Amino acid sequence: MSEAPAEIVREDVMHEGKAKIIYLTSATDVLIQYFKDDATAFNGKKKGTIVNKGVCNNDISSHIFSLMEKDDIRTHFIEKLSEREMLVKRVEIIPVEVVVRNVVAGSLAKRMGRETGEVLPEPIVEYYYKDDALGDPMINRNHIRIFHLAKDDEMDHVQKEAYKINDWLKAFFDKIGITLVDYKLEFGRSGDEILLADEISPDGCRLWDKETGDILDKDRFRQDLGKEPETYEEVRRRALSVS
Ligand code: TMP
Ligand code: ASP
Repeated sequence: MSEAPAEIVREDVMHEGKAKIIYLTSATDVLIQYFKDDATAFNGKKKGTIVNKGVCNNDISSHIFSLMEKDDIRTHFIEKLSEREMLVKRVEIIPVEVVVRNVVAGSLAKRMGRETGEVLPEPIVEYYYKDDALGDPMINRNHIRIFHLAKDDEMDHVQKEAYKINDWLKAFFDKIGITLVDYKLEFGRSGDEILLADEISPDGCRLWDKETGDILDKDRFRQDLGKEPETYEEVRRRALSVS
């Protein structure tokens, strides 16, 4: 984690996504990531709000990123600025969503005709082309190389990091009584480095309570299970208890 340059001023919107806004700042290599309460699912077909989600996700992500940095996982995180704002290094996002799975659920259950909840003997890493208009189709290393989404050596690094991050995240959630079922990561280029970017929160993870099996993530919203704000708050409470 690097020191925040003094007097960073928020400037124009650089990009507005479904759950976050990225702002330019007075420093060229620094951005502000602002967390909204907006929630979408099924490629934006379902829309809603989860009260205070942005505050929870900023807290959860900031805490996880700062702990990861101590364990030599390089991320774009600089510091938490305010309730909903995180100061991050400017990266060029690699347009590949990296999904890591430890337990069968979601699209994997459907695609392979397997039971939700089957524990995988080793993690599965999958790649999706980050393109909302196309609905984020699944791709492989050949598509990534041939269509110049990323270089092979960059993807070698991303894949290695994904396994390392998975070990780290599984252990983190295990400590707070949560099974890390699956999740999505994004990486970005910053000079010669590749950094973990975006966020790590219940929006992009499947998290199940180890004792009760309760769903503690955005699937509550996707499936209209209710208690969404309380669930995000609960994950925040547990995540922040890890030091
Ligand atoms: P899936 O089962 O729908 O493929 O999703 C796997 C995990 O990745 C799940 O935790 C949700 C997360 N994910 C996102 O957050 N955004 C995405 O665009 C995709 C494809 C997955
Ligand atoms: N891809 C994310 C989801 O399935 C967000 C979205 O579809 O809008 O939840």
